[in-house]
Amino acid sequence: MAEPTRRQPDDPASARLWGGRFRGDLDPTIAAFTTSLPFDRRLYRADILGSIAHATMLGRCGIVPADDAAAMVRGLREILSEIDAGLLAIEGAEDIHTFVEATLRRRIGDAASRLHTARSRNDQVATDLRYYLKTEIVKVVGRVVALEQVLLALAEGHPSVIVPGYTHLQRAQPVLLAHHLLAYLWMLHRDAGRLRDVFARTDALPLGAAALAGTSYPIDRELVASLLGFAGVIPNSLDAVADRDFAVEFTAAVAVLMAHLSRLAAEIVLWSTTEFGFVDLADSISTGSSIMPQKKNPDAAELIRGKASRVTGDLVTLLSMLRGLPLAYNSDMQEDKEAVFDAVDTAHASLQAMGLVLHGIRFNGERIAAHLRGGLMGATELADALATRGMPFREAHELVGRIVLYAQDRGRELWELTPDEYRQFNALLADGAELATPAGAVANKRSAGGTAPARVAEQLSAARTAVTETLSWLAALPAPPVERETAAAEPGPAPGR
Ligand code: ARG
Repeated sequence: MAEPTRRQPDDPASARLWGGRFRGDLDPTIAAFTTSLPFDRRLYRADILGSIAHATMLGRCGIVPADDAAAMVRGLREILSEIDAGLLAIEGAEDIHTFVEATLRRRIGDAASRLHTARSRNDQVATDLRYYLKTEIVKVVGRVVALEQVLLALAEGHPSVIVPGYTHLQRAQPVLLAHHLLAYLWMLHRDAGRLRDVFARTDALPLGAAALAGTSYPIDRELVASLLGFAGVIPNSLDAVADRDFAVEFTAAVAVLMAHLSRLAAEIVLWSTTEFGFVDLADSISTGSSIMPQKKNPDAAELIRGKASRVTGDLVTLLSMLRGLPLAYNSDMQEDKEAVFDAVDTAHASLQAMGLVLHGIRFNGERIAAHLRGGLMGATELADALATRGMPFREAHELVGRIVLYAQDRGRELWELTPDEYRQFNALLADGAELATPAGAVANKRSAGGTAPARVAEQLSAARTAVTETLSWLAALPAPPVERETAAAEPGPAPGR
């Protein structure tokens, strides 16, 4: 007589997919320790759509009866819409894959028992995560490009404001505010590009690898790939279930994105200090102090900076989780999801917050102009002029250094020295005052990518083109057939099969 198995497959309280060879119950502490449902529930949509595509393929390939395939697809669609509508709670199973299959079995009975034919949770989870990430990458890129548009509008709205440019956080050379803002736009544009690259490598189907070796059933992986909107199939079954480089790459791309947001946030924090006063932040994104009534803190910007470190941590989690693992699937890999989800959530929240911070930012022209005084930032212009007029640059640097001392000792700006004073240093510099004004210095930076107004105008138009290009990429992404209720996902013999 057969021993009773540990769990009946339709035991709703703790559905398992592997009861047969076990005699005793799983220790509840270990069950709680090993479950991934509390976090992989987030993959429900990807998991159900993946199962719909798989069941469709099983039916079309004649691996399961067409009626069973049709029943599975109908049942799965029903489950998906109920979860979407909040009518079905995801609970009582080891993981999301188990939950979906057990729920389907409760609803349609035996036909559901054929769903896991030619499939393993190993290729299933890899598929789910890739499917999910593709969707999230598109959303993150959408938010990145939206933020680029905010920066673009700010740059366009301040075409002639000049700010001090810094090196070592010491005033260095004046630049256009638009130029400074566009620097961040280009960073974000590369972030979008990195995410698009990750998308391309994530866009390959693991399903069909089964546990690790492939399967003996006559499956059609290309069909599943096309139903799920994957560009192709992963050519090696071990690689398909064992690697998570796409998750590492995604998190790395988000870590770089967060580093960029964090630098912008750090500048906003600095600029909003009384000492700088370059910007006023909206009340709606600032917070107060519980003890100091006068305080207005740039909390949102500080937290964007702070949250960047979480994603660095997520990246380290993924890399160190993967690096010691022998092929193929190992349970360690279950730890990938929380790191990836955290990177996703942090990216969305931070991009959204930065958008609001920038929407409400007001540049304080007077304070900025006041900071153009005192830094003697026109000095490089004077040295460049001397060199252009024949003096070796080293000599010119030395001479202007003495002019700087002269002006500093008298508490005057380089643009306030008279032509006679300049002539005393060198006759070539009679027009020194003019050259050394912030506007003069900025106007001279005509090299490609420089801060001269004409160059910045060119940059603005290049930036508009870059934004448009990303928007077209987003608009051109086709929805996977399986997402469309009525389309290709109906089981039944495929034409010519
Ligand atoms: N919960 C698992 C994960 O997140 C799913 C795959 C389980 N596979 C297995 N053979 N235990 O990775």
